[in-house]
Amino acid sequence: MLTIRKATRDDAIDAWEIRRTSVLAACAGHYSEADLAGWVEGTPTERWISVVERDFYVAVHDGWVVGTGMLTVESGQVDAIFVRPSHMGRGIGGKMLQFLEVLAARHGLVEMRLDATLNAAPFYRSLGWTGDSVSIYRTARGLKLACVPMTKRVPPGFVVLYRWRLHPGSEDAFVQGWIRLSDEFRSRGSLGARLHRGSDGIWYSYAQWPSAQARNDAFSMGNLDETAMAAMRAAIAEPFPEIVLDPVAGGLLSLAGHAGCSVEGPRHVSLKPERDDEQGPREGNGREGQR
Ligand SMILES: CC(C)(COP(=O)(O)OP(=O)(O)OC[C@H]1O[C@@H](n2cnc3c(N)ncnc32)[C@H](O)[C@@H]1OP(=O)(O)O)[C@@H](O)C(=O)NCCC(=O)NCCS
Repeated sequence: MLTIRKATRDDAIDAWEIRRTSVLAACAGHYSEADLAGWVEGTPTERWISVVERDFYVAVHDGWVVGTGMLTVESGQVDAIFVRPSHMGRGIGGKMLQFLEVLAARHGLVEMRLDATLNAAPFYRSLGWTGDSVSIYRTARGLKLACVPMTKRVPPGFVVLYRWRLHPGSEDAFVQGWIRLSDEFRSRGSLGARLHRGSDGIWYSYAQWPSAQARNDAFSMGNLDETAMAAMRAAIAEPFPEIVLDPVAGGLLSLAGHAGCSVEGPRHVSLKPERDDEQGPREGNGREGQR
């Protein structure tokens, strides 16, 4: 079974090895042998290990780390998408990107960007990313690497509106139950929910999900907090049919945005040459590439 989890320092050696072997296996033919050798030489620096610990996610299959990926939430930049050669073509790269899309949605991002290796651009296109122009990375070691800047809109999500009339006096118990259940759904992949009391005396809950499928999956995990459900059921005098809302236009500032996460699409920043780089190319926006 494949799971994706936050990386730790202990994953750095695996991540480095996956980066090295996947580049040698899949990028050959698109870059010169000298470039490939220069690209993957060396050992992980303390700085790189810190990036792994802070920002990387790893795909784990049968207890073995088989893929990596990262998202910089301040900029929407996706990076370090590498899959172990023995596990390529099994959907792992796609699942990592899907995971990072949900992460981006949770942080209120509306657009993601990445700089694709020439070999990987068709892979990203098959998953909805767009971009055709070729840019050049140039590292301080004199290594120039062609890449394709690409972007993808973060999918708008799936919203369900719930409405209830409550028994007078049961509001506090209802709210406590609602909080517990919505926390549980967040841990199962929901993008969050809000509870509102309407001026018409009806209570409204607005719940957002990455997709209808993600919501179905969360419900099919079973074992929801029965005490919380019972508290809510006891408080409800009259339930109204739930309404599915398709996003059409506009956006909300997320609370995450006020905590320093981007709520706007990242600017496209062109690449600049001549940056000091230990591991691989950097772009002109000052971000250190993890390739
Ligand atoms: C690019 C890479 C991450 C893809 O990972 P993967 O796990 O092998 O890809 P998946 O199996 O998830 O493929 C997902 C989809 O992309 C398609 N795809 C994968 N590689 C492709 C390619 N080179 N060209 C066209 N389509 C491709 C698959 O057919 C699949 O589509 P489908 O779901 O319709 O069948 C992996 O090959 C890799 O690590 N390459 C070397 C490192 C690299 O270049 N990384 C990118 C850095 S920007």
